[in-house]
Amino acid sequence: MEAFVDIAPRTKIVALTGAGISAESGVPTFRDKGGIWQQYDVMAVATPEGFERDPRLVWRFYNERRKHAKLVQPNPAHYALARLEQLLPEGNFALITQNVDGLHRKAGSKSIHHMHGELAKVRCTVCHAVREAPEDLPDLPRCPCGGLLRPHVVWFGEIPFDMDKLYQLVEECRLFLIVGTSGMVHPAAGFVAHAKTSGAVTVGVNLEPPENRFYIDHFYQGKAGEILPGLVDHWVQCLKS
Ligand code: OAD
Repeated sequence: MEAFVDIAPRTKIVALTGAGISAESGVPTFRDKGGIWQQYDVMAVATPEGFERDPRLVWRFYNERRKHAKLVQPNPAHYALARLEQLLPEGNFALITQNVDGLHRKAGSKSIHHMHGELAKVRCTVCHAVREAPEDLPDLPRCPCGGLLRPHVVWFGEIPFDMDKLYQLVEECRLFLIVGTSGMVHPAAGFVAHAKTSGAVTVGVNLEPPENRFYIDHFYQGKAGEILPGLVDHWVQCLKS
């Protein structure tokens, strides 16, 4: 593995994470062997059309994932990103995650952009109010306004949250880090190319080379929980010297 790349003291960093960062916490990824999309029909459980056709099935899928997410704990990769944020001057770090599991928050990260939503929240299909999901949700949960609730997650065919803000962050950063994402789902998969063409150094940590490997300047192959703590330690040393 190549030596870790240095950072300058006032470097603005944006990190993008995907399912791979939570794999060592016991959360299944989507496209690896035995991943979620090998067990479930993505069109049935993760599209607006699927919800329209069979909302009970969709709710069962997300309730199961929500219950599981409550039981799992962050791993050293989540903690490393939280530590990096604490050590950088305010405003110099942003975390964009495609994950809906809530593990970055549990690890102490603060500046989190949940571009694909959060399992722990629900949204009304009528009044659009977003709320924390109660502990036990019935088969077809309803909003106080009477409307059917849906999971507050982004489905295929929908636009992720806060895209204008995310593009601004990607354009302004000088170091773009991607961790545990296959680089197959847009728009997130396009961020690394956008960061690079906007002048950032790009760094990747992944078990396998992702689809967008071409745009990654420094690639560290392996498990996020094993590589990220060392990478962050190295960056902490750079900031001190
Ligand atoms: P994927 O399942 O597509 O990719 C996970 C990536 O993590 C793969 O490249 C693995 O090699 C890598 N990986 C696995 N274990 C790892 C580990 N311990 N350390 C580092 N890397 C590891 O998941 P995402 O890229 O997050 O969207 O998928 C993107 C989106 O597609 C998801 O947010 C979800 C999904 O369909 C929606 O549901 C809308």
